[in-house]
Amino acid sequence: MSEEPSFTPRVFSGIKPSGGLTLGNYLGAIKRFVDWQEAGTHETIYCVVDLHAITVWQDPAVLHSATREVAAGYLASGIDPTKSILFNQSQVSAHTELGWIFSCVARMGWMNRMTQFKDKAGENAEKASLGLYAYPALMASDILLYHATHVPVGEDQKQHVELTRDIAQKFNHDFKVAFFPETEPVIEGPATRVMNLRDGTKKMSKSGESDMERINMTDDADTIAKKFKKAKTDPEPLPESMEDLAGRPEAKNLVDIYAGLSGRTDEEVIAEYAGAGWGRFKPALADLAVEKLGPISTEMKRLMADPAEIDRILAHGADQAREIAEPILSETFRIVGLVGR
Ligand code: AMP
Ligand code: TRP
Repeated sequence: MSEEPSFTPRVFSGIKPSGGLTLGNYLGAIKRFVDWQEAGTHETIYCVVDLHAITVWQDPAVLHSATREVAAGYLASGIDPTKSILFNQSQVSAHTELGWIFSCVARMGWMNRMTQFKDKAGENAEKASLGLYAYPALMASDILLYHATHVPVGEDQKQHVELTRDIAQKFNHDFKVAFFPETEPVIEGPATRVMNLRDGTKKMSKSGESDMERINMTDDADTIAKKFKKAKTDPEPLPESMEDLAGRPEAKNLVDIYAGLSGRTDEEVIAEYAGAGWGRFKPALADLAVEKLGPISTEMKRLMADPAEIDRILAHGADQAREIAEPILSETFRIVGLVGR
């Protein structure tokens, strides 16, 4: 094996345009992407992963508009196309090309362990698409096509980033190279797993059955207030310490959300609200959410009214992405022994 190469510090992450953005996407992903961008320590690449969205059925017209909406969500939250590369995955064909090579590196046994596939395919795995099953190999290609060193994600993606490391390792080992980095998942902050507002044991997701179980980034102030007011809780007031939140998933979730939105820790939130009843905490939380999300949702609507501008930004980002991706893909082809690229 050759000497350890040094990789450019580079962040990559993605969001699927498979529905509207939620508060979970904002706190678990986008807000942290903006922090990485502003820290200036790493190159930052953010993607609307449309090819991942179609692993389950998407109405074409809805997919088209959801792709622009996720782009608008990134931009409105502070992703700046002059500081970060922002694009949609399908415009850079190298993702699917490297994805195929990684499908030939990854093992069936690895894929069989993926809990997200089991959750999404449910009882009826025979009817799930082949793409849904192979999805983690495409995700590994998203990351490794840029030799990304760090991937900020929510808790639910940890296993996929670990599989990305396994793929990089096996590729490097099989071809006796040190070509792909062992990417670090970065899962930090108080809100890496925002839960459903009606059931604190389930994740808040874009595709949950009832709109009352999630906060959408485009919800208006009244809707946000109503959803928090109706959020499920237990009858106890907020405790004095974090330990006393154990076994109270709904209470812990609302504290996590408050902490994530205010940029504080759970401990600091508990210190301020120890002993407070829900009648006091929930309106404070709703006000905070409206204060933070209101301007973002207004900006998203403004951007969505000018789709040509969003398309221009995505096309420019795709050009920049290709510049990094193409040499890495060509070198991969050469390593594998494919002729001609
Ligand atoms: P997705 O919407 O599944 O494409 O997720 C995009 C990003 O948002 C990933 O990094 C997820 O881990 C993150 N994310 C999605 N839902 C949540 C949630 N409920 N809590 C925290 N992070 C989330
Ligand atoms: N699988 C991720 C999700 O469902 C989305 C995703 C695709 C992603 N490719 C990625 C996240 C690369 C981080 C890096 O949320």
